[in-house]
Amino acid sequence: MKKYIVANWKMNPQSVAEAEDILAYIDEYLKNETEKKERSLIICPPFVFLDDISKILSTSQLSQQAELGAQDIALADSGAWTGEVSGPMLKRLGVSYVIVGHSERRWKMGESDELVNKKLKTVLANDLTPIVCVGEKVRDNNFKEFLKNQLSATLAGLSDDEKGKCIIAYEPVWAISSNPDSHPDKPEDTLKAVNIIKEVLSPNTLVLYGGSVTSKNAKDFLLLEQIAGVLVGGVSVQKEEFVQILKNL
Ligand code: 13P
Repeated sequence: MKKYIVANWKMNPQSVAEAEDILAYIDEYLKNETEKKERSLIICPPFVFLDDISKILSTSQLSQQAELGAQDIALADSGAWTGEVSGPMLKRLGVSYVIVGHSERRWKMGESDELVNKKLKTVLANDLTPIVCVGEKVRDNNFKEFLKNQLSATLAGLSDDEKGKCIIAYEPVWAISSNPDSHPDKPEDTLKAVNIIKEVLSPNTLVLYGGSVTSKNAKDFLLLEQIAGVLVGGVSVQKEEFVQILKNL
C-alpha cells in the first residue's frame, strides 16, 4: 500500500537558499535509492517559497516522487482579501494539496470548525486535495467524543464523494513537538483514533498520523496497515533526519 510522507515545513526555513539545500539533499538520496518505493512525498513550504520549489520539483528526481502542498488557502478566488492566497493562485504554482484545520491555525489563530469547513470546501471547489487536520488538545476520557464532534463539524455538508477526496491527518495537539511536554502518541492509541475517524467517514478513508514523528518512531506508524502515512513538522526541515524517515519505507 502506498504511504504518504507529508512535510509540513510550517514557517521554516528562513530563506530560499536553505529550502533549496534541503531539497537538494532529498533529491540526492532519491537519485541513489536502489529500490523504488511505493510512496507519495508531499512538501508543504511557506507560500513565499512555493514558486521556487515548484520549479525545483519539476526539474529534479523529485519530479517523479514529490508533489507540492500549501499550508492554507483563502476563502475566495480573488478580490479584496489582504494577506490571503487563493486556490487558483496555488494551482498555477503547481500545488496539488492544501492543509486545512491545522491545530496551530485552530488554536493559535482562532480558526473555528466553521471557518475550517469553509476552507475545506474552497479546497475541494478548486480541485485540490485537502489534508484535513483533526485532533484533541488533551487525551482524557472525553477524547473520542471530542474527535467525533470536531470531525463532523469540520466536514459538515460535504457529499460522500467529497469526503472520499479528503486525506485526514490525526494530530493530537499534545503530541506536536513545539508544544510543552509533547511526546509521540503510542501507535496502539493512534489506532483507536484512526478507527473512530474511519467509523465517522469510511473504512477506506486515508488517515495520516502527525505529532513528534522522527526517524526513530516513523516506522512504528508507517508499518501499520490502517495508517496511510505521516505528517511531519519539525523534523521535515532537518534534512538528514527527514531522509532517514524516507529510508524507513
Ligand atoms: P511535529 O512533527 O514537529 O510534532 O509537528 C507535527 C505537525 O504539526 C505537522 O503538521
